Amino acid sequence: MNSDVKQKQYPDALMVIHHRKSVRNYTGEPVTQNDVEMLLRAAMAAPSAVNCQPWEFIVVTDRKTLDALGDALPYTKMIFKAGAAIIVCAVPATAHKQLAEYAVIDSTLASQNILLAAEAIGLGAIWTAAYPYPDRMHSVRTILNIPLEVIPLNVIPIGRPTGEDKPKDKFNPKKIHLENW
Ligand SMILES: Cc1cc2nc3c(=O)[nH]c(=O)nc-3n(C[C@H](O)[C@H](O)[C@H](O)COP(=O)(O)O)c2cc1C
Repeated sequence: MNSDVKQKQYPDALMVIHHRKSVRNYTGEPVTQNDVEMLLRAAMAAPSAVNCQPWEFIVVTDRKTLDALGDALPYTKMIFKAGAAIIVCAVPATAHKQLAEYAVIDSTLASQNILLAAEAIGLGAIWTAAYPYPDRMHSVRTILNIPLEVIPLNVIPIGRPTGEDKPKDKFNPKKIHLENW
């Protein structure tokens, strides 16, 4: 386990889950290398089918590259004020049965861990889509030199939140089926 996680006090898991929200408003402050490492350690703690870990992560802090991603992606404009971004890549060749579906499922779990860990350490983050849009995946591949056989799943901008974004209460008892549909 990350020694930082052992030594420091963090909010408990349910607090983090319920307080997590997509953060689209950042102060513009930089994100430290330590913080990025915390997020990546959380990402790689995710479960994966047969423990294949079919993921790779691209960390971007260069302003020009962050802005290029914002220019190319229609719903990632919040990146212009983010201090960093993590691009989660799903790698079918390393997934269980080499299935793209497993690569995407497992990398999605890693992504959710990034979003939760960001909340836990006081940062804001948001999943913005690359997959499954061919044009957006093409743009991300081109900007970041990602090979064709690798799926750029998302772009996750990260920054210090301004506090404007709030969690939504999405609990809906109608979604729960007891015993059968
Ligand atoms: C697969 C996926 C794709 C998403 N793509 C975008 C996106 O491109 N841009 C964006 O602003 N938000 C995106 N979101 C964030 C959702 O809009 C957000 O999760 C949803 O509105 C619920 O809000 P919450 O995350 O604050 O609970 C995406 C979320 C998921 C899970």
